[in-house]
Amino acid sequence: LLSIVAVPFIIVMLLLVAQEGHAQTAKKIKSNEDQIRESMIVISRQLGITCTYCHSTEDFKKDDKPLFKVAREHMKLTQILIDSGMDGKSGPKADCYMCHRGVSKPDYKEPLHPIVNPFKTGP
Ligand code: HEC
Ligand code: HEC
Repeated sequence: LLSIVAVPFIIVMLLLVAQEGHAQTAKKIKSNEDQIRESMIVISRQLGITCTYCHSTEDFKKDDKPLFKVAREHMKLTQILIDSGMDGKSGPKADCYMCHRGVSKPDYKEPLHPIVNPFKTGP
């Protein structure tokens, strides 16, 4: 009699445990997706652009747009800056805005006066 009761009980318990695990995985994937979306909205804002600037919207995984590749390189670069100590703990935290300031192509060359430049070296 014990085994007649115990076997279905164990099966039901196993099913419940499996179900719970599945729900948690789904939740994790969902929150991961939300996180990606969140960070994508932030980088778009920091560069003053929309999603289609980097993505072909029928497939967000595709890397056929040249600026997608530039963006991926700059994400790595930003992460290197964070990992090297620019992490906001005692000073600024590196992000796209630090260099981009709301534009996709930030000015990065120091403007030098073409005629008057007291610090000019060389010919
Ligand atoms: C500056 C370029 C850029 C902009 C703007 C941008 N993305 Fe992305 N996005 C990327 C790059 C690069 C990756 C890949 C990141 C990686 O490989 O780690 C990515 C990844 C993603 C992914 C994950 C794709 C996957 O592999 O599953 C999604 C979803 C996504 N972006 C959605 C968006 C949405 C929605 C917007 C607009 C709110 C947006 N992106 C704006 C560059 C951009
Ligand atoms: C250390 C400074 C720096 C950081 C941080 C940085 N970028 Fe850049 N990025 C630049 C500079 C400078 C340019 C312009 C290069 C040029 O004009 O040739 C640029 C250009 C780009 C371009 C090409 C734009 C175009 O229209 O050609 C993309 C896309 C881009 N960055 C994405 C990003 C994203 C996304 C982040 C944050 C994850 C980021 N960058 C962080 C300096 C930076």
